[in-house]
Amino acid sequence: MKRLAVCVTGASGVALPYLFLKEASKSGGVETHLVVSKSGGLVIKQELGISVAEFQKYTGFSYDEKNFMAPIASGSFRLDGVLVSPCSMKTLSGIANGYEDNLIIRCASIALKEKWRLVLMPRETPLSVIHIRNMLSVAEAGAMVFPPMPQFYFRPRNVEDMIRMTVGKMLSIFGIDSGLSREWGSDKAALKEFEPQSGTY
Ligand SMILES: Cc1cc2nc3c(=O)[nH]c(=O)nc-3n(C[C@H](O)[C@H](O)[C@H](O)COP(=O)(O)O)c2cc1C
Repeated sequence: MKRLAVCVTGASGVALPYLFLKEASKSGGVETHLVVSKSGGLVIKQELGISVAEFQKYTGFSYDEKNFMAPIASGSFRLDGVLVSPCSMKTLSGIANGYEDNLIIRCASIALKEKWRLVLMPRETPLSVIHIRNMLSVAEAGAMVFPPMPQFYFRPRNVEDMIRMTVGKMLSIFGIDSGLSREWGSDKAALKEFEPQSGTY
């Protein structure tokens, strides 16, 4: 059984961790520990039109961002990985500077010190020099910086395609097979399926 922490902050793109949790729960071999920040809850309502309680449906365990008594607040509770998706610039800064004032930043900092896989999905545009410096700091400390960039070469037809492809890649980084990710050159049928209609763009 794989054990992952999934942390959702108040950046745009909460559909990505939502589908990630759904797929991870379907896969059977993954135990997820979810933390949604206060701002993350606001963005969930804004972008998905659902409550945080509904978002929590696809996870086994869920904690308040201020709950430092949660198992994932300690490195003694071993995890196979930590995903922060989406990762706000505020949380990125907290992780880059070791400012562990909530459970999300605490959990990400633990992943860095314990040398576990840490994947951050920052979302902001354009990026300031401060944002870029913070990304460099976390990358130097061992995190994977994974901005949600669409794989246009697979010819996504719509936003849903882009979400599915990105989540497929996120899952495969944690070793979870979903059928959502594609490998360039190995799946001709899938490429055909993504043939754009004329006038798609
Ligand atoms: C609808 C909405 C979208 C937002 N999108 C972003 C974003 O893409 N990136 C970002 O860094 N902050 C974004 N913010 C601002 C963050 O929510 C805010 O900085 C917050 O303090 C982040 O706190 P957290 O990291 O604890 O969740 C957004 C806020 C709202 C309400």
